[in-house]
Amino acid sequence: MAHRRVGIITAGGDAPGMNAAVRAVVRTGIFCGFEMVGFKRAFGGLLDGDYINMTARTVSGIINLGGTILRTGRCPELKTEVGRKKALKVLNELNIDSLVIIGGDGSLAAGNALSKEGVKVVNLPATIDNDVVGTEETIGYDTALNTAVDAIDKIRDTAQSHERIFVVEIMGRHHGFLTLAVGLASGAEVIVVPEVKLDMDELCDKFRQASSAGKKSLIVAYAEGCGNSFDFAKQIEEKTGLEVRVSNLGYIQRGGVPTARERILASVFGAEAIRLLKDNKTNVLVGIEEGRIKLTPFDEIPKLEKKFDVEDYKLIQRLSI
Ligand code: F6P
Repeated sequence: MAHRRVGIITAGGDAPGMNAAVRAVVRTGIFCGFEMVGFKRAFGGLLDGDYINMTARTVSGIINLGGTILRTGRCPELKTEVGRKKALKVLNELNIDSLVIIGGDGSLAAGNALSKEGVKVVNLPATIDNDVVGTEETIGYDTALNTAVDAIDKIRDTAQSHERIFVVEIMGRHHGFLTLAVGLASGAEVIVVPEVKLDMDELCDKFRQASSAGKKSLIVAYAEGCGNSFDFAKQIEEKTGLEVRVSNLGYIQRGGVPTARERILASVFGAEAIRLLKDNKTNVLVGIEEGRIKLTPFDEIPKLEKKFDVEDYKLIQRLSI
């Protein structure tokens, strides 16, 4: 009997730990007797039939690498009927009936769409934004969190020396999950996230009070999804007369050596993807909840919403007196 062939794709924004997931998928897949194929440049490589045969050796020495050896990208073409038909044709020609897709929301939508065309799909959530439903944690989030906290520790030194307010912009296109965790872990005085409506007057009062209470520095963890951080900083300066600086942490949050926690999560997720393919339990998203693997069928995903932890948000306010 011919070996079952499984395709692997890393898609969307790269996230530290993607390589550890690729390694786990490839090696556990080979362990099960599958042939493993890695598509390059995400769905772009799938549409172009640009792939490499993955062996246990092609994933040697990558568990500790950021980025993705398969490379990644965003592929609007796959959102079209024509694009999907093209993808199916390539999969057919390569005799691949199953895909493991490692990425964020866009990848999940792509996985769902391909599964409706008959491809057997397992999605692994990977994005530093941690905004994928059905999981408490995504691959990439823990490393980005640590990177941002480390950066804010450094910013705090200069903020205190100059007695300034710093608005630190954290990545997160639509959500403030990463910003919330960064705020809590870095001791930020304020966090600004899309999930909570901001009262600018109240905020400026807080800055004035903090300044007269002897606070030497103030850190605002500001989520990218809230708009231009420079405009926000300018407003604070105009309203309070206090000195404000902006530091946009930007893409450094996406890179770097994955943390141990990240590598473990990615390895466990990768092995689970292969277990699911082996047991023919496909068209699911793998996640983690309270320390255990949680599976969400694609059909249930539209009904789900990831809850923002308002209690943690309030805790930051209490801790910042
Ligand atoms: O991967 C998530 C993310 O880093 C978001 O936080 C950010 O808004 C977006 O990707 C940036 O995307 P791009 O790499 O296309 O600039």
